[in-house]
Amino acid sequence: MSVTNTEPRIIKIFDTTLRDGEQSPGASMNIDEKLRLAKQLQKLNVDVIEAGFPIASEGDFEAVKKIAQTIKGPEIAGLCRSGFKDIDRAWEALKYAEDKGRIHTFIATSDIHMKYKLQMTPAQVLESAVAGVKRARSYTPNVEFSCEDAVRTDLKFLVEVVTAVIDAGASVVNIPDTVGYTIPFEYFNIIKHLKDNVPNVDKAIISVHCHNDLGLSVANSIAAVQAGAGQVECTINGIGERAGNCSLEEFVMSIKTRGDILPFKTNVVTEQLTPASRLLTNITGIVVQQNKAIVGANAFAHEAGIHQHGMLMEKSTYEIMTPESVGLKASALVLGKHSGRHAFKKRLEELGYELNDEDLNKAFTRFKALADLKKEVFDEDLDAIVADEVMRATERYKLSHITVTCGSFAVATATVQLEIDGEQVRTAELGDGPVDATLKAIKKLAGSEAKLTQYNVGSITGGTDAQGEVTVRVEEGTRTVIGRGASTDIIEASAKAYIDALNRLHFATARDVESL
Ligand code: KIV
Ligand code: ZN
Repeated sequence: MSVTNTEPRIIKIFDTTLRDGEQSPGASMNIDEKLRLAKQLQKLNVDVIEAGFPIASEGDFEAVKKIAQTIKGPEIAGLCRSGFKDIDRAWEALKYAEDKGRIHTFIATSDIHMKYKLQMTPAQVLESAVAGVKRARSYTPNVEFSCEDAVRTDLKFLVEVVTAVIDAGASVVNIPDTVGYTIPFEYFNIIKHLKDNVPNVDKAIISVHCHNDLGLSVANSIAAVQAGAGQVECTINGIGERAGNCSLEEFVMSIKTRGDILPFKTNVVTEQLTPASRLLTNITGIVVQQNKAIVGANAFAHEAGIHQHGMLMEKSTYEIMTPESVGLKASALVLGKHSGRHAFKKRLEELGYELNDEDLNKAFTRFKALADLKKEVFDEDLDAIVADEVMRATERYKLSHITVTCGSFAVATATVQLEIDGEQVRTAELGDGPVDATLKAIKKLAGSEAKLTQYNVGSITGGTDAQGEVTVRVEEGTRTVIGRGASTDIIEASAKAYIDALNRLHFATARDVESL
């Protein structure tokens, strides 16, 4: 690709963390959590926020409606199939965003999906796509149409569908790699073929939406914009169905860092990338791998002596972008036990947390207790406090007390007291170690059949007085949730993580029942 002197072309960023991202196991969020993340996406200055799938459940509908009512700046999209009932329901929620509301309707176009999933002929699919777009256009001119499984769609049929939906009024046409199957060269050719062969292609923006099953979603998205795509659909931390979606931070920083050979620009405020990544982790409990590009804990760490030497001489020897450009500030010593509420609030705001008075009081009380135990309180500790005190799922179960006895001569015993629906209940259990005893006691009190499938413990910062952070994965039927808890006592952190997971299960099940 040659270097050009022309103005870079703006690529629109369509964030689908709240829709496709939420489809990853354990990532379901309640309305408050979705709104909190949407506010961060607003600060990030993405062009479009896909807020949910309104017909999927009452909770999804309410979340899309709330975000449409509250968020100013980005357009708000809601997903719907091409049936009229779906489209009408989507607009019910989106209308509050007025001219910023986008109806995103889709139907599958590949032979394999049409034959086995839809059991429709290509002619029926084409008819449904066109009718859906026309229905959506009766509400708004802001209509996006997606050809689900476009990459495995017969190219001639794809041209036919794209031409027809643009004629019907779609202003954006999305060409998803739904199953993460394509490679950059092939995807480039598909997008280029559409740009060259769809006669009315200039009347719409071509969008791309790549899944990461082969680890190529970012590379494929870059190839697509090189071929003429004008919108990229992506998620924070790359979360999403199966192996996830194109990672927003990786795509955006690739464009920014390689501006020398990629003549494109996005509107994203890149200094908000790290706060967005951390917020999502705090809400969902899904931690990014340490070596994840851009936002992983090691993304800007230089371990080898020779690298450290180079960095001391000149940062560009080993650093292709600065930590500051993605909003990463050195682990800052925040405040000691004498610090006041004002300084605490200010630091939280710098980290991207704007809390109401009630939440601020809860977080501050917890901070004071922690500062009594720990001499130094770091930003990571504050993240954990906010996650623990403010971002918990709606709480049905609350930990009141826990006492554990254990040691090399003792059978581990945990006595746990919970508040369940406002009532105090207590029990004691023996276990194979203190964590096992604790979780057994909680499970018994909650009367839960859920299975613990993963348990991880780590420390939030360095030092023996660091807070321990526990992440658990819990499954019940087909549902998976992730719970997180932090404390300077790892048994208490384990109890909190498990209770958080049970609350999330309870919330998710209640939401399903509501939508029946
Ligand atoms: O992966 C996909 O095809 C999708 C569409 C619904 C856009 O998520
Ligand atoms: Zn998808």
